[in-house]
This record gives sequence, C-alpha cells and structure tokens, in this order.
Amino acid sequence: MKRIFVLALCWLACSAWGETEMPLNKVEVATDLPTVGRGAETVMTVCIGCHSLKYIRFRELVKLGLDKDKVDGWRGANPMGAAVASMLPAEAAAASFGKAPPDLSLIAKAREGEANYIYSYLLGYYTTPEGKTGNHYFPATKMPDVLAVASVTDPVQHAQLEQKAREVASFLIWAADPHAQERKSLGFYVLAYLFVFTTLLYLLKNRIWARLDKH
Ligand code: HEC
Repeated sequence: MKRIFVLALCWLACSAWGETEMPLNKVEVATDLPTVGRGAETVMTVCIGCHSLKYIRFRELVKLGLDKDKVDGWRGANPMGAAVASMLPAEAAAASFGKAPPDLSLIAKAREGEANYIYSYLLGYYTTPEGKTGNHYFPATKMPDVLAVASVTDPVQHAQLEQKAREVASFLIWAADPHAQERKSLGFYVLAYLFVFTTLLYLLKNRIWARLDKH
C-alpha cells in the first residue's frame, strides 16, 4: 500500500513537472548563404563577447562564402588558421556569471531539440512580475538576455528578433557540421561516377559476350 502511495506521488510530481516544461518552438533551419551569413555576423559580433567556437577556424568562414574583408575584421591579428576564441577569458566569464559560457561549436547538436532549442532559448526571456529576467526554457540560466527579448513588446520588433534567432540557429547548425554540404555533393559525384562506370562495364560485357556467342 505504501509503495502504491509513493508511486502515485511520483506520478503526480512527474506530470506536474511535465506541465511546467514549455514545448520548444519549431524553427526551419536555413542553409542559404545570406541567412547563415547574417547568423554568423550576430554570433561573431554578439555571442563571441562571451563564447568561443573552438572547432571553427576563420578560414572555414571564408570557405563558407562569407566576405573575406568581414572575416578579416573579426579575426584582427589572428591568423586565418586560428580557432574562433571568445573575447572574454573563461576565468573572467566564470567570475562574472558564476559559470563559464560553453563553447558554441557543437552546442546546436549537443542539446536536445537542436536548432529548436537554440531558437527557443534565445527568444525565451521574459520579465517576471518582480522585474527580474527569466527564461522559459532554461529557468536557472546565468546567461543575460543578449538579444534584449524581454523588453520588446512591439510585434514587428519581435518578428525581427525571431528572424535573428533563426539566423543564429542556422549558423550554429552549420558550425556543428561545417562539412555536411561538401559531403553531400561528394556523395552525388561518387554515385554519378559509379553509374557511368557500371554502364560502361555493362556495354563492355555485351561486346565480349556478343563475340563469344558467335563461336
Ligand atoms: C554576456 C555574456 C554572454 C553573451 C554575450 C552570450 N552568452 Fe550564451 N551563455 C552565457 C553564459 C554565462 C552561459 C551559461 C549559462 C548557464 O549554464 O547557466 C551561456 C550559455 C549559452 C548556451 C547554452 C545553454 C544551455 O542549454 O546550456 C547557449 C546555446 C548560448 N549561451 C548561446 C548564445 C548565443 C547564440 C549568443 C549570441 C546571440 C550568446 N549565447 C551570447 C553568456 C553569454
């Protein structure tokens, strides 16, 4: 009996937990260069203030198709082969926020919900009745409301922030697997090559057999 009671309590607690958790907003990830490029711009000018992208090198941003002058501006005195570092040393960040901001290179793949999570988290800030800033998707987050979402009430302005969050999520999806596009086009060439090669072999086989059949 006692066990059933405990189970029932657990079930109640779990379903109450489930109710408070907000479902993620869905976002369509873009792969076109203008959108991904604008996402890169936001990440390289805003997020880099606290976060690094240690698996992305400046060279890869140029290879992606971003304007070289722009990338030069972001890298400053760093070589093209340098990884994208944060403006804020990890210890200083930990001292200011009580937690070091995680590296963003793989974050879009590391979180459940992937792009939907990044999008929802960035837009999830709100002002509590006590005037504090909260986040629906990560209530205890130490990250400030960097896109200033909580203060926006105008729907047009909010739509612009949604667009910005979508660009950032798209860029972070690219960053988590920068060679995905290359791999896909390589796959296409491999298949095309195999197709041509198989056709040639088939024709050759027919010729050889035609000759053999005569004897
Ligand atoms: C002022 C410093 C600061 C800036 C600027 C900043 N962040 Fe953060 N961010 C943090 C800190 C601190 C954390 C750690 C939060 C925690 O775990 O409580 C964090 C955590 C995160 C996380 C991980 C959340 C999780 O689920 O663990 C993501 C994703 C993220 N930031 C994305 C971004 C993006 C995208 C931008 C740029 C639009 C950005 N951040 C700009 C400080 C910052």
